[in-house]
Amino acid sequence: MTASEEHVQVGIIGAGPAGLILAHLLQRAGITCKILESRSRQYCEERVRAGVLEQGTVDVLTATGLGERMRRDGIVHRGTTLRFDGASHHVDFEDLTGRAITIYGQAEVVKDAIAHLIDVEVPPQFETTAVAIEDLEADRVLIRSTNADGTAANLRCDFVAGCDGFHGVARKAIPAGALSTFEREYPFAWLGILAEAPPPHHELIYCSSERGFALFSCRTPALSRHYLQCSPDEDLSEWSHERIWDELEARLAGEDAPRLRRGPILQTGVTPMRSFVVEPMNHGRLFLAGDAAHIVPPTGAKGMNLAIADVVTLANAFAQFFHGGSRLALETYSETCLKRVWRAERFSWWMTSLLHRFPEATPFERRLQAAELEYVVSSRAALTSLAESYVGPPLDLGEPFLSPGRLRDVS
Ligand code: APR
Ligand code: PHB
Repeated sequence: MTASEEHVQVGIIGAGPAGLILAHLLQRAGITCKILESRSRQYCEERVRAGVLEQGTVDVLTATGLGERMRRDGIVHRGTTLRFDGASHHVDFEDLTGRAITIYGQAEVVKDAIAHLIDVEVPPQFETTAVAIEDLEADRVLIRSTNADGTAANLRCDFVAGCDGFHGVARKAIPAGALSTFEREYPFAWLGILAEAPPPHHELIYCSSERGFALFSCRTPALSRHYLQCSPDEDLSEWSHERIWDELEARLAGEDAPRLRRGPILQTGVTPMRSFVVEPMNHGRLFLAGDAAHIVPPTGAKGMNLAIADVVTLANAFAQFFHGGSRLALETYSETCLKRVWRAERFSWWMTSLLHRFPEATPFERRLQAAELEYVVSSRAALTSLAESYVGPPLDLGEPFLSPGRLRDVS
């Protein structure tokens, strides 16, 4: 039996934030596209991932009609707390930068985008795995895929967007010699929980302690999301729920410690910590976006925001190509994205280094870390630098995406 064949302008692999928001923007600009996603819709919608949206991300979702539920259910945080030596220090983002962040889970962004894409008749094709990308350097690329029932399908496209995460096929389809890889592994991971309990504070608490780092976050006023620094090969079976709460409490402890509210733990998981970048982010007609091209450790809350920044740049470049006949923005896509990526890599590495306990650190390095923490909270300049990176730079959303369908007849 021969595989079916279909044609779109942009074939998108992956229905995470990168692939979904790209499809949404392209649809608004009248560019045909199709998402292939190996997992089920339910899996994509229920996966618990990041939770912090930069102001720029919020603005993009709002301006393109995806912000309704986020405006209602998202929680605006105008600052955060750094806690060390048993004392809390407030970082006031609004005061320092004029901007804020919004707590709204990645799973919610994903749900909103999928529902909208189905509404506008660009439904992601779930349970369809891209297995090969061919003819990357020809006029039309071919994505070969397999459906859940084992049938094969071919998607011909003018361009492919590899939005398939760190373990996807897109990056691997690029000849190894064409890419440079930059990588750092950290000697720890995060043990994360989602719990039915109100968070200890109305904003996030980044807590550095002798016992290791802990982060106190939330998803809603009744749902906590907390993390503990643990070893990269941590065995979850050794962590009873009681032990997790005891350890969170021990790391939060100190004179002005807020009360940690315990409740049923709904989910646990271990997240590895890695910094990773490939350069360039494109090859021939294949463009990588999001985790397929770069990973940051979660300490700076940058992963989802970077993925969305990439696809805003990519959608602009496709609009210029299909509607303006110019390749320039596609040719500079990688260079444009990598500037923001490396800024986020630096910030995420710095936050991680500042707050975690490094098992191999010498006494000298520990003193330096303590001095840096003290400096950050005592200097308005240092606090402003932290706040500026945390809230993120603005995103340049191009005109084609603000007025949907306007450019449909131009090409
Ligand atoms: N074929 C089809 N789909 C694939 C394939 C494949 N061969 N390989 C991977 N995928 C899908 C995965 O199932 C996943 O749903 O690609 C999607 C990639 O999504 P994400 O991992 O969420 O990546 P991205 O959209 O770049 O978002 C980055 O995710 O890891 C978090 O915190 C990180 O917030 C950041 C965000
Ligand atoms: C989260 O709520 O999941 C979260 C918040 C801030 C981070 C990382 C994760 O830095």
